[in-house]
Amino acid sequence: MANAIPVIAIDGPSASGKGTVAQLVATELGFHYLDSGALYRIVALATQQKNIAWDNASEVSAYAKDLHIQFTGDQVYLNNADVSDAIRSEQMGKGASEVAVHASLRAVLLNLQHSFRQAPGLVADGRDMGSVVFPDAPLKIFLTASTEVRAQRRYQQLLGKNQIANYADILLDLQQRDARDQGRAAAPLIMPTDALLLETDNLTISAAVSFILEKYWHKMQK
Ligand code: C5P
Repeated sequence: MANAIPVIAIDGPSASGKGTVAQLVATELGFHYLDSGALYRIVALATQQKNIAWDNASEVSAYAKDLHIQFTGDQVYLNNADVSDAIRSEQMGKGASEVAVHASLRAVLLNLQHSFRQAPGLVADGRDMGSVVFPDAPLKIFLTASTEVRAQRRYQQLLGKNQIANYADILLDLQQRDARDQGRAAAPLIMPTDALLLETDNLTISAAVSFILEKYWHKMQK
């Protein structure tokens, strides 16, 4: 039976701004929000703490099964410790994209992701929300921007946090992460055929949010 709880799936590459847009859409609609990237970041952090190599698929997946992960508002907890800031580092972003290649880990995280689908609805942000995790989502958005614009946004974001940032390094890192996310065998980053493309190079955040809300209301009226 089809799941009656609506999901808006928002997929796209790193630093496309989809996290910010997805959270605002969720707030506007009073929906729950799933930051699926945070799950892969948590696994990267937890396995690093346990000295498990990120390329060891079986150990990473087995360890991930036992993790206690909780989201409370903007805070993320791993085995009751607040890891909200720790998982946001560039290193954990890289680790996340390394552990994310393992099909066995993706299978472990599937049920957890499904459990976020609760009334009145869910906005799910990631790489495979529309293609694998919520293929029946009534609205799928593929939100993207050019690599240069994404690198510029990430650069400004780091400067804003008073962190040392080098544009050329950020650009290279994004290109490598895109290649890994698009080229992997398990749930690669693709635009599902039934998704709408939202290209944000010349779009403000509020215009992107309005676009999605409009498409959502339109779908729901049908
Ligand atoms: O979105 P975020 O940058 O936090 O994701 C970190 C990494 O986690 C991505 O580069 C990607 O490799 C992986 N990821 C994934 N599938 C998702 C969400 C994130 O493979 N649904």
